[in-house]
Amino acid sequence: MSGRAPLVGARVLLGVSGGIAAYKAAELLRELQRAGAQVQPLLTAAAEALVTRATFAALSGRQVPASVWEDPAAVEHVALARWADVLVVAPATAHTLARLATGLADDVLTSTALAFAGPVVVAPAMHTEMWQHPATRANLAVLEGRGVRVVPPGSGALTSGDVGPGRLAELDELVDAVAAALAPARGLAGVRVLVSMGGTREPIDPVRYLGNRSSGRMGAAIASEALRRGAEVTVVAAATRVDPPAGARLLLVETAQQLYDAVLAEAAAQDVVVMAAAVADFRPKSVAEGKLKKDRGVPEVLLEPTPDTLAELGRRRRDGQVLVGFAAETDDHLAAARGKLAAKRLDLVVLNHVEGERSAFGAAAADAVLVDADGAEELLGASKPAIAGRLLDRVEALLPAARG
Ligand code: CTP
Repeated sequence: MSGRAPLVGARVLLGVSGGIAAYKAAELLRELQRAGAQVQPLLTAAAEALVTRATFAALSGRQVPASVWEDPAAVEHVALARWADVLVVAPATAHTLARLATGLADDVLTSTALAFAGPVVVAPAMHTEMWQHPATRANLAVLEGRGVRVVPPGSGALTSGDVGPGRLAELDELVDAVAAALAPARGLAGVRVLVSMGGTREPIDPVRYLGNRSSGRMGAAIASEALRRGAEVTVVAAATRVDPPAGARLLLVETAQQLYDAVLAEAAAQDVVVMAAAVADFRPKSVAEGKLKKDRGVPEVLLEPTPDTLAELGRRRRDGQVLVGFAAETDDHLAAARGKLAAKRLDLVVLNHVEGERSAFGAAAADAVLVDADGAEELLGASKPAIAGRLLDRVEALLPAARG
């Protein structure tokens, strides 16, 4: 943590749920105040089994509501949500994470969280088994997918006598995470970033197409993160299941050809191009004018290659421009990604798996490997926003200003 007071003037909601680490939340409150914040504590009923509201009221100098029914006329959860700049839940139990992930509003903390539109930080603390349970992993993935920052638990002695991950993160780490949530990095200020996302559709006849399973989540996460870092973002979106982020300039396309035309028309003006779209490699050679009818027999659909946008970007790239490609591979992953890097003159390839349990398509979290000419960085089980963050850290380092 820096010696400065990184939270001067910040209004922090401190949610405390019922893990044994709840006692540490009193000290966290103090640390947040030392960093300059005003802190409003909110305790769950389970937290109150371990620590008292009186402690938190005395330390914060504020009323700590026991429930939304205490003073219904004040509509406290809405008023607090409007008051706050940031919400941090520490410790966050598995149960409270589940409630936050599903949007339950069954106490004053979760009701306030649901009414709150600003940045959220959660610091899970629980026994290792609960931390590793697929239900907890899935809830965390949902929260991360929504932009919630997770400060993972540390490893060490737990109250059960076991040793493993589950301890509440260190207090200075938590204060740093709250400060980071409030002061987003501006490392891409003024940088022009184009992100392609979604899956192309290649018409067979007026009603049918060849498509793929891309949801657009990865591209949307990259575009959101680039916006958060101050970039001027253009999104070229093929079919998606998620909306591109508001704030980006949006160009809608359907086919690989349209995507090629749109991206290449924009590319010269861009500092960074990230090709997260799943682009069809083949399209029907001819598109039937009318709907193909089954009484005419089974049609033979002949395919032809589509133009390769990424390869063309590599050919046309100018000095200092950063190019990032994706590789969805089923076998010989790393070798294929390295081949793509060299053949298409890319700075970075994000390698995803497209088979089995960890398939990247449509998933909130996926394993990814960032491959550059020097090596490979594995991001195991990372959420798409986390992959986007790491990817853009690498892009920032590649930009000419950073290269010096
Ligand atoms: N891509 C593209 N234009 C195409 C096909 C793909 O720009 N016609 C881009 C994708 O956006 C992605 C990357 O190329 O960033 C990798 O796509 P992928 O289909 O995994 O591999 P290909 O390069 O097409 O090669 P291969 O078929 O050999 O795997």
